[in-house]
Amino acid sequence: MTKKTLTLLIAVPALTWTVWAQVASEKTNKLTSISPQAMADALHAVIAADRQAYAELVDRVRTGTNPIDVSENWRETHGLPVPAQLLRNAAQSIQKEGAEFSYALRSQWAINPSHTAQTVVEQKGLEFVAQHPGQTYYADEELGGRSYFTAVYPDRATLPSCVDCHNRDPRSPRHDFKPGDIMGAIVVRVPLEF
Ligand code: HEC
Repeated sequence: MTKKTLTLLIAVPALTWTVWAQVASEKTNKLTSISPQAMADALHAVIAADRQAYAELVDRVRTGTNPIDVSENWRETHGLPVPAQLLRNAAQSIQKEGAEFSYALRSQWAINPSHTAQTVVEQKGLEFVAQHPGQTYYADEELGGRSYFTAVYPDRATLPSCVDCHNRDPRSPRHDFKPGDIMGAIVVRVPLEF
């Protein structure tokens, strides 16, 4: 047997085994479930994108030559709801459909008192996102005997109208918001028990 044949005899099966092992391990690593964090991040990406798209629309229509009223009394004024109302209506209708996850707006400077922190995790999350711009706060929490994965994402003043409307509102505890400031948070909650 030549040295070349011997090398081939060893190298070919070794290579075949390496490739096969790679394929086999890829199969074992195939994604069969999603982590609570990945789930919360994905939900937040959709919620935040819809919120931004609606806020941009509102930003355009409430100024200009034929402005449309954007306020909580939108039904009476034949106007449009503020972005927070749209988010809340969507969140409530998803709950009615029986969704296990939930989401809500929260803030330390809330116009609507029901948007203040409702749990210790929400309070810690609000403080964290205000102090660590661009970061998310993640925690497990127990509510009503059930475990949840809770994620608190910063909600930022992405448009001039965010700042303008909140600074003008007499119910707002803060009137010095600037564009880019963190105004609160979007809290996403995913159950860890079914
Ligand atoms: C036209 C006025 C208006 C605009 C524009 C507006 N908001 Fe608000 N926002 C409100 C009102 C009013 C509430 C309370 C509404 C409610 O819960 O019924 C609210 C609620 C919120 C809350 C929950 C805490 C609270 O104050 O009750 C956050 C956070 C928030 N807005 C951030 C933003 C951001 C960020 C933008 C821009 C992307 C924005 N808002 C645009 C009027 C406005």
